[in-house]
Amino acid sequence: MLQEAIPDLAKYVEPDRVRREVYTDPDIFELEMQRIHEKVWIYCGHETQVPKAGDYYAVQIGRQPMLMVRGSDGSIHVLYNRCPHRGNMMCGDRKGNAGEFFRCSYHAWTFHHDGKLRSIPMIESGYAGTPLNKESPDCSMKRAARVENYRGFVFASLAKDGPTLKEFLGKAIVAFDDMCDRAPAGEVEIVPTCFRVIQHSNWKIFLENQLDALHPSVVHQSTGRAAHEVEKQIAKQAKKGEVPLSYHMLSAFATVTIDKWDAFQTINYPYGHCILTGYMGLRPQDPDTKAYDEIMIKAYGQKRFEEIVGVNIHHVLIYPGLSVQSQLQQLRAVRPLSVDKTLTEIWHFRLKGAPEAIYRRSLAYYNLVNSPSTLINADDLENFWKCHQGLSSDGGKWVSFARHLGRDVEKDGVVETAPNCGTSEAPMRNQMKAWAEYMRG
Ligand code: FES
Ligand SMILES: [Fe+2]
Repeated sequence: MLQEAIPDLAKYVEPDRVRREVYTDPDIFELEMQRIHEKVWIYCGHETQVPKAGDYYAVQIGRQPMLMVRGSDGSIHVLYNRCPHRGNMMCGDRKGNAGEFFRCSYHAWTFHHDGKLRSIPMIESGYAGTPLNKESPDCSMKRAARVENYRGFVFASLAKDGPTLKEFLGKAIVAFDDMCDRAPAGEVEIVPTCFRVIQHSNWKIFLENQLDALHPSVVHQSTGRAAHEVEKQIAKQAKKGEVPLSYHMLSAFATVTIDKWDAFQTINYPYGHCILTGYMGLRPQDPDTKAYDEIMIKAYGQKRFEEIVGVNIHHVLIYPGLSVQSQLQQLRAVRPLSVDKTLTEIWHFRLKGAPEAIYRRSLAYYNLVNSPSTLINADDLENFWKCHQGLSSDGGKWVSFARHLGRDVEKDGVVETAPNCGTSEAPMRNQMKAWAEYMRG
């Protein structure tokens, strides 16, 4: 039906612009859920969210309520959160422990952690001679078609065919390598609670903003300037002029002025993924960093240590649902709820084996930049809502992505912004290219 409603998707996406309906049409949203979110690899969560057998965590993939579950053998399963009997949701809580098996709260059918039927009350007397076959998959909880775990990050795809997780991630896999490699123990642990923000705007508006290098010094200028003023006062009073690094996290939005943003670079990959290099060098020579460096050198040796901390990325966008800041150990997962409503989950991680001070640095960034309690996030949220409102009006038909178009450097399907073109709208063009490919089916 939806295919008939959108006969010619090509007319919605041109090289430098996109029709407004792409953000506002509920039929297009439904098709996006079918052809993108319920097909590609979607981040479910980190394995440390479900450490013990029976632990589960609810997660939304496209329109499907799912459960990430730890089995008794240690493996992780992703199941539809639905009882095969009469459709009751198996777990109403966001997270918990199912015990040795799932037990439906309606008529007590029970299921193993991998979703397989375990028992039905009075099965012989109730079902002998009926068409119900307890061995049929129809009697078990349905599983996600594919589940893969990369360095603790669990992804599921609801389509049985398609690229492997590694093929899908391609070079964007650096997001997870960079985060885990920075841990002396080579792995991270999730901080098991997150901020959840519901944005009153289409999901693509959030993703397009992530690597929009033009916006920070405009949108976040007032916040950055206020922080910079305080930073200067503290520097004047403090011994040796030392100011906590957290001020820099905010003041950078003002001190990196609009003209400097072209100096950064985005690298755009197949499937809509993108990396922003440079920007916030967090290699200060304070005692905390030095203590961390020493532990890292002990764990990896000088050469490997230099390689690890030399990775120069600020942000990795994994289309269509993840924005990772590996050097600050955080990520934001995007869960579209409807055409004009989007849930973002904001998570952060501990580097296993790193000193507490390094975790505090990640927590500071989490609270100061990404959380709903900061002005930075609020600045963005206001624009997201205003964008969606404007796009819902008859004030114009198109969204423009023409900035630095034609100046990108393309090689083997990878699009790099040319020198001094860091504010290029190449990331948005790359996302829309992937979008159009998915939507063609
Ligand atoms: S709906 Fe689950 S046992 Fe009946
Ligand atoms: Fe922003």
